[in-house]
Amino acid sequence: MPGTVIVGAQWGDEGKGKVTDLLAERADAVIRFQGGNNAGHTIVRDGQTYKLHLMPSGILHPGKTCIIGNGVVIDPKVLTEEIDELRRQGIDASGLRISANAHMIMPYHLLLDHAGEAKLGRSAIGTTRRGIGPCYADKAARLGIRVQDLLDPKILRKKIATALEPKRLSLRPFQKEPALDLQTMTEEYLGYGHRIEQYITDTSRLVWGLLDAGSSVLFEGAQGAMLDIDHGTYPFVTSSNPVAGAACVGAGVGPRDIDEVWGIAKAYCTRVGEGPFPTEIGDELSDQLREAGGEWGTTTGRPRRVGWLDLVALRYASRINSLTALCVTKLDVLSGQDRILVATSYRSAEGAELDTFPYHQSVLHRAKPMWEELPGWSEPLGDIRSEEDLPAAARDYLKFIADVVGVPVVLVGVGPGREQTIWTGAAAGTAPLRAAAA
Ligand code: GDP
Ligand code: IMO
Ligand code: MG
Repeated sequence: MPGTVIVGAQWGDEGKGKVTDLLAERADAVIRFQGGNNAGHTIVRDGQTYKLHLMPSGILHPGKTCIIGNGVVIDPKVLTEEIDELRRQGIDASGLRISANAHMIMPYHLLLDHAGEAKLGRSAIGTTRRGIGPCYADKAARLGIRVQDLLDPKILRKKIATALEPKRLSLRPFQKEPALDLQTMTEEYLGYGHRIEQYITDTSRLVWGLLDAGSSVLFEGAQGAMLDIDHGTYPFVTSSNPVAGAACVGAGVGPRDIDEVWGIAKAYCTRVGEGPFPTEIGDELSDQLREAGGEWGTTTGRPRRVGWLDLVALRYASRINSLTALCVTKLDVLSGQDRILVATSYRSAEGAELDTFPYHQSVLHRAKPMWEELPGWSEPLGDIRSEEDLPAAARDYLKFIADVVGVPVVLVGVGPGREQTIWTGAAAGTAPLRAAAA
């Protein structure tokens, strides 16, 4: 102990990478527990930007154990490229460990993701087209190819053949695709196997050992609560569970191994891809905030949709995750706004006030936010390092968020840089910071 889970509390891209990197300095290991390279976690250190898709966000700290857990879906092509890229940037990846039980994204998953979106047409989900959904579907159908299969050529070939069989019809348009040839694919993946063999291990056992020895372990989530396949805005969601409960499943530990759950939320909201987004702004102001916050997808480069902070959704995310702490990122982006709007409840199409997140898709689609208006501030915040130095309106805004959500704000982001961080008084005594003092 202690185990701390870091999760996105909105629709992804909240700044999980930055917060994980910050806490990793004080932790012994970081484990990713779900998602795949649909994630894009950005870390800015000494002016240099690192974009991680599969690698846990502790990798920039030499000597940390960085684990890709069994719940992650791995595209080995992307993973090996990421290792190479980090090496080019002078980052040593020798602390990497990969679960032998993690499932792999195969070339047909990418094609099926593209084809599925094309077929949906106007109802498309707006996936990252990285093959995530089809890979998790194969996992559930027990047709998945796992990392351990890379170590045995015969088994690998047989499993790929079995997985391809039921997809023959849907893959017919791609029958000339060379990457789909059984032999070619088997050889390509055996090649990846040779590359990553040194990192493959029983990662659950590794994490138990660390926790039992009193080491500090971070469980790094990808995406966010509102993209959760069970609890998010289905069907406009990802195909895994980005909520804290999944940290246990995707790392192979039990709930008693988790001490704290930190939720990351922007001081406003963004969403990339389709689906309901009650507080979406959608006029020049959203262009202005997109510009100020650099709101383009880390993975796909798509412009992110921008909205005001949605406290109905954030309260819901807090409950689903049992958040013990909130990190509010990108507060600096709101500088210069005369007024800040916050949704504290919704109004249904029938006129009812909803102060909890509607479970029914049709109600959510037609819900309109009921706004609370708070005063803004004009000062830039990028150089501020303590809570007291923040403008009074910014402090009031943070207090408003903490009060409505009922969870203390422990960290405030005032810029992308590692140092552009304010630790609040509430941070002292939290498990990941205690670990540093120990
Ligand atoms: P993640 O997927 O949750 O790790 O978030 P992303 O990396 O996709 O998106 C967050 C973006 O905001 C990245 O470009 C970060 O460098 C940047 N960022 C993180 N925290 C802050 C902050 O407090 N202020 C500003 N201006 N940018 C931030
Ligand atoms: P990080 O970890 C934001 C979105 C996609 C799409 C939906 C389904 O950087 O926060 P998928 O490819 O997963 O099947 O797409 O989920 N999405 C993300 N949005 N941040 C992410 O990751 C995302 N990963 C997936 O845009 O709407
Ligand atoms: Mg991201």
